[in-house]
Amino acid sequence: MQKIVVAVDGPSGSGKSSVSKEAARRLDAAYLDTGAMYRAVTWHALDAGTDLTDARAVAAAVKAADLFISTDPDLELVKIHGTDVTVAIREPFVSEAVSAVATNLEARKELVARQRAIIAAHDRIVAEGRDITTVVAPDADARILLTASEEARLRRRGIQLGGTQSAAELETQVLARDAKDSTVVNFHVAADGVATVDSSDLDFEETVTAVLAAITAQA
Ligand code: C5P
Repeated sequence: MQKIVVAVDGPSGSGKSSVSKEAARRLDAAYLDTGAMYRAVTWHALDAGTDLTDARAVAAAVKAADLFISTDPDLELVKIHGTDVTVAIREPFVSEAVSAVATNLEARKELVARQRAIIAAHDRIVAEGRDITTVVAPDADARILLTASEEARLRRRGIQLGGTQSAAELETQVLARDAKDSTVVNFHVAADGVATVDSSDLDFEETVTAVLAAITAQA
């Protein structure tokens, strides 16, 4: 089968994880959730009692993290030093702390190197995150920025979290995190050669179809 690397970026609530995972299944490709890697090393830093305001300590904790992430789109599994943290990394305390790691340039360098190694180890892979089209895999065969209006992103994240959050809590979780992340990576505007898919008015199936069409058009 032909080799293919697909890079997908987008803000929280754009649907990039579920859409990229489904695109990987249909392309018979592996799937890499780089956000889960940032979450896992954040969990590790917190577990080790690292002071997240100490940039050197954060970078050291990330470099020392023994991280495993499944690249099977049908097996969601993340381990830190052998401990299964798949569920724990989705907890709000990790979401709130993750930007401290994501804005640490040394930590990013370490994770980008690990992400490139994982991508290079696969013939066919869909990798998604915030800087895949621009930093991690700018030479990918297909590059897509998946966007959605603020309203659509807040609605989706609310449903994902079971409808238990107030509008203000959702805004903090989605928009405030994106604002912090935007200080180091640009995932709101497509870089040169990156196709934009706006999912605001599309349902899941329509978004997958649009992403697959954008991949076919480029690869
Ligand atoms: O995609 P998800 O919301 O799980 O990502 C969690 C966090 O990881 C983001 O808020 C961002 O801080 C960071 N991240 C990043 N670069 C990536 C993927 C995720 O900075 N490529």
